[in-house]
Amino acid sequence: MEALDRRGRPLRDLRISVTDRCNLRCTYCMPREHFGPDHAFLPKSDILSFEHIADVVGACKDLGLRKIRITGGEPLLRRDLDVLVKLLRDVHPEADLALTTNGVLLERHAERLLEAGLDRVTVSMDALSTPVYSAMGDVEHGPEATLQGIEKARAVGLRVKVNCVVRAGVNEGELVPLVEHFGPLGVPVRFIEFMDVGATNQWSLDEVITSKKVRSMLAAHFGEVTPLDATAYGEVARRWRTPQGWEIGTIDSISAPFCGDCTRARLAADGSVHTCLFSTEGKPLMPLIKAGASRAEIQAAVRSIWTERSDAYSEERSKSTQQPSERVEMSYIGG
Ligand code: GTP
Ligand code: 5AD
Ligand code: SF4
Ligand code: SF4
Repeated sequence: MEALDRRGRPLRDLRISVTDRCNLRCTYCMPREHFGPDHAFLPKSDILSFEHIADVVGACKDLGLRKIRITGGEPLLRRDLDVLVKLLRDVHPEADLALTTNGVLLERHAERLLEAGLDRVTVSMDALSTPVYSAMGDVEHGPEATLQGIEKARAVGLRVKVNCVVRAGVNEGELVPLVEHFGPLGVPVRFIEFMDVGATNQWSLDEVITSKKVRSMLAAHFGEVTPLDATAYGEVARRWRTPQGWEIGTIDSISAPFCGDCTRARLAADGSVHTCLFSTEGKPLMPLIKAGASRAEIQAAVRSIWTERSDAYSEERSKSTQQPSERVEMSYIGG
């Protein structure tokens, strides 16, 4: 039976972080000064096995789960990820099953992921030009591997979207080239407002470029964009169409928060459940799982976590008393 939270929102999506590690160091997510060689990542012994993740998904299925997203950190750093995809596909054959990745390792994994039952991938890519790509990701290389990963994913038949976090003074110049490159390929590029997630990314409102501004920058080059209908209840991105017929998206989490129909729970790699991206702590499932709980017991635990939920951080941001130092990091909780 469906589970509703205190604001009447159903549990429809589960975002599963399979690792808190990443091969990039995006300045807005894992700034190197905080995620350097001394950073304490989760030890292997604290990380949920694929079988346990599948148990949690099985437990959530009867609560109304429809969408599953595998995230990280960088999920492709987790060995044999296709094995997890297959387990999830078997446990929930009708789910929309997606992966969020930076794409660097995608070329070598795309085919096996598709064969295992993955429906689609969303690739984070903030720039096409080498200097801006490497500055945003704080890495030596440019976007070549990510572009090859996207090509391979398309070639094997995975649906692809691109996510671009927009940061004032850093990558505004990349918006037009990204749409020019991906539009004709039928790959929607979604522009995300830089968010105050976590405690380390030195977020400031001055660095946010609103979706409205993004749309006017694109309109100046391509012509006016027109709105498209949402494809699903509670969709995070607003969809738009350029005069050329290309789809783009905007994720207006700062300028137009979407907590009202937020149907997303997050499972961190250590088995804790977070009912908001901006949560300060999760509710641990690991002790229950380690004690050999049945699917029905895990389901009861998730139901109780969800029904007690009343989060609406983005809508209440301005009056929030929550201190940034208390918030969990995006790379731990999954985006
Ligand atoms: P689709 O199913 O393809 O529409 O994916 P999605 O937009 O749900 O997921 P994706 O991983 O592509 O996330 C896009 C951006 O939206 C990321 O920056 C996420 O952090 C952000 N986002 C996703 N869910 C939430 C949410 O519940 N709250 C907020 N504030 N941001 C979110
Ligand atoms: N603000 C907005 N989006 C972010 N992402 C990571 N950190 C932030 C942030 N501070 C994005 C990633 C990825 C998605 C899951 O979340 O680029 O595309
Ligand atoms: Fe890694 Fe994605 Fe975070 Fe960048 S945004 S550091 S690719 S987890
Ligand atoms: Fe959902 Fe929290 Fe994001 Fe609001 S801020 S949309 S409640 S995850």
